Amino acid sequence: MTTDFAATKRQFLLPEGVIYLDGNSLGPLPRGVAERLQTTVADEWGQMLIRGWNTAGWMDMPARVGNRIARLVGAEPGSVVMGDTLSIKVYQALASALELVPGRRVILSDTGNFPSDLYIADGLVRTLGDGHALKTVAPEAVEDAIDGSVGVVMVTEVDYRTGRRHDMARLAAKAHAHGALLVWDLAHSAGAFPVHLARDGADFAVGCTYKYLNSGPGGPAFIYVAPRHQDAARPALSGWLGHEVPFAFDLDYRPGAGIERMRVGTPPILQLAALDAALDVWAGVDLDDLRARALALQDRFIAAVEAACPMLTLATPRDHGQRGSQVSFRHAEGYAIMQALIAEGVIGDFRAPDILRFGITPLYIDEGDIDRAAAILARIMTTGSWDQPQFKARARVT
Ligand SMILES: Cc1ncc(COP(=O)(O)O)c(C=O)c1O
Repeated sequence: MTTDFAATKRQFLLPEGVIYLDGNSLGPLPRGVAERLQTTVADEWGQMLIRGWNTAGWMDMPARVGNRIARLVGAEPGSVVMGDTLSIKVYQALASALELVPGRRVILSDTGNFPSDLYIADGLVRTLGDGHALKTVAPEAVEDAIDGSVGVVMVTEVDYRTGRRHDMARLAAKAHAHGALLVWDLAHSAGAFPVHLARDGADFAVGCTYKYLNSGPGGPAFIYVAPRHQDAARPALSGWLGHEVPFAFDLDYRPGAGIERMRVGTPPILQLAALDAALDVWAGVDLDDLRARALALQDRFIAAVEAACPMLTLATPRDHGQRGSQVSFRHAEGYAIMQALIAEGVIGDFRAPDILRFGITPLYIDEGDIDRAAAILARIMTTGSWDQPQFKARARVT
């Protein structure tokens, strides 16, 4: 292992006394971000004003930062661009992909997909009004459900509740053999483990940056289009910054070259600057090291919790090949248990109906954190201290 994980941990500002096991939902603050934001705000926005679009390179940021993400997800240079939120990029990728398979009207997804992806697909089907249908099957049944009627397979690689992971190369082979395209949601993959979009035959992919890439709340999403599709893909959301020459202000839309056409409107420069600084953390990180360490820490957590808390049921697959970078347990009172844990400084989150989620992120979580978190959870479960009214009142965000 060449990665120095003690050094990466020092690059994060974590509150004293907190063990942060929720980087799968919102990554913590890397030290370099506040300084970078200060520079962008004071020196660039403050002093350059509108000149910043050229002078500070703001207009090039979506593609420049996209290339930094491309390296983390195994994508070809020039195939990733930043912008908008993930839900919007799901729409754009799905609509673009569907157009590339004329005559095919089925979008295949799974019941473990994130609701926003399914809602977006359902909304698109209604907008198209052309006999399209969204078909959802159990995550384990996706491969067998791919047949000649399917136009696009749209799946999130790692299930946000259980942490179960699809086999990207396998699904791509099956989909392509049947003439279908694949849209991957990498929300729980990018920065979580090595992803090989190009090697594993992805057609389109989208992802957010506020989870394992630590860009901060509301950080911009990314979209990947395989080079073989870029010139044929109509961006579906044809905004002016995806135009071939935005500042010609033509009345007719002509898509820009390559991945640039997937841009829509004005990019969020402050959030892109935060992301750009957050990506510096990855400089000395080998993603295979990250994966090996994440699995070891997950196994350590699972073993400790299962030994002390028989009332919790593991929801995450035991098979390493089928795991993302989170560990989930089920319990009917999962919400209250998680609130009791958070009150003791161990921050994870809860997903209805009964899932306690723990993000295992080696950039800033080590063995000591895992052992302390498991011990606190064991104490809460054996004493029943979670069973108090203040832990049962549901907040807006769980
Ligand atoms: C897998 C997945 N897809 C889509 C979304 C929605 O992302 P956004 O709220 O940024 O549009 C999320 C949010 O957590 C997610 O986990």
